[in-house]
Amino acid sequence: MPDFPVIQIGPHQLSSRVVLAPMAGISDRPFRRLCRQFGAAVTATEMLSAHVQMQNPAGSQLRGIHRDELSPRVVQIAGADPVMMAAAARHNVEQGAEIIDINMGCPVKKVLKQAAGSALLQDEPLVQAILRSVVQAVSVPVTLKIRTGWSPLLRNGVNIARIAEDAGIQALAVHGRTRACMFNGDAEYDTIAAIKAAISIPVFANGDINSAEKAKQVLDHTRADGVMIGRGARGRPWLFRDIEQFLRNATLPQPLPLSLIHKLVVQHAEDLHEFYGPQTGLGFVRKHVAWYLEPYAGAADFRRVFNTLDSADAQTDSLHEFFLHLQQTESAA
Ligand SMILES: Cc1cc2nc3c(=O)[nH]c(=O)nc-3n(C[C@H](O)[C@H](O)[C@H](O)COP(=O)(O)O)c2cc1C
Repeated sequence: MPDFPVIQIGPHQLSSRVVLAPMAGISDRPFRRLCRQFGAAVTATEMLSAHVQMQNPAGSQLRGIHRDELSPRVVQIAGADPVMMAAAARHNVEQGAEIIDINMGCPVKKVLKQAAGSALLQDEPLVQAILRSVVQAVSVPVTLKIRTGWSPLLRNGVNIARIAEDAGIQALAVHGRTRACMFNGDAEYDTIAAIKAAISIPVFANGDINSAEKAKQVLDHTRADGVMIGRGARGRPWLFRDIEQFLRNATLPQPLPLSLIHKLVVQHAEDLHEFYGPQTGLGFVRKHVAWYLEPYAGAADFRRVFNTLDSADAQTDSLHEFFLHLQQTESAA
């Protein structure tokens, strides 16, 4: 038996209390794999628009789930039409999804044309209709991701959470901010605590958790079952390992040696080249490298040159050089 509180989502017993937040343009398959290696228990796909996916089911294959990924394989879908959402859920289960996650934190504006700038969370009957429709459409567990409410004046997260539980949703992630897609101010955790107290399905607290200490504070404050990490894991996928160890025994693992970070960054770059193809992969590598190198002196100068490189080999050679130089500087110090 594990020596920590186990989170169960349908038949899936999670391996830790820390999960990766879905992030469009970031939580692709190479990044998901890396985060799983460092102990993230769940790594959902980037949000897939139900509307777009149903118009062209083959088109989103790269961004969807891959059968060789570790279980539980979670696909996140978004959309405002209950019938379309049900169809997308069924399609992704056929493709190998073992959990369907519904995004109601940041709806796809293209899809919500008639309500651009507004959000589903404002329309509780529609929320209920979508959730019921998706839960009935598939035999796998369905989970939901929300914000704390529509606006500071309409912080209806608790209502939505109750609707979700009644509809058969099996876990809920709550980003501690209101309103679609905005990142102003700090996340607040009181509403997440109120949501946790109001329902009995597992709750993941999300928003601004960027260290093991913060993860513990948020869990203590909200009594949530687990934490969901987004931006904090960019350039630091080992954060999952740090958080899980800290939650278990209030210690932190030794920082990763530079030689290991070197290997990891190069491997990640190679995975991105392979996954997207050597040309499209270049832009993804630039983005991740910027996050990885943030802590190091000289990173800005390095990146100015790095961002002009136009082949996969040039990128990996340059990364090798950067890290070898850092290691030499470190051992000379
Ligand atoms: C670049 C980016 C893309 C995102 N894409 C999604 C998405 O596809 N689906 C979703 O539910 N949330 C998405 N989010 C929101 C995150 O999942 C998360 O709720 C938010 O970043 C707060 O967590 P954090 O402070 O740990 O980053 C995205 C956030 C960022 C920064």
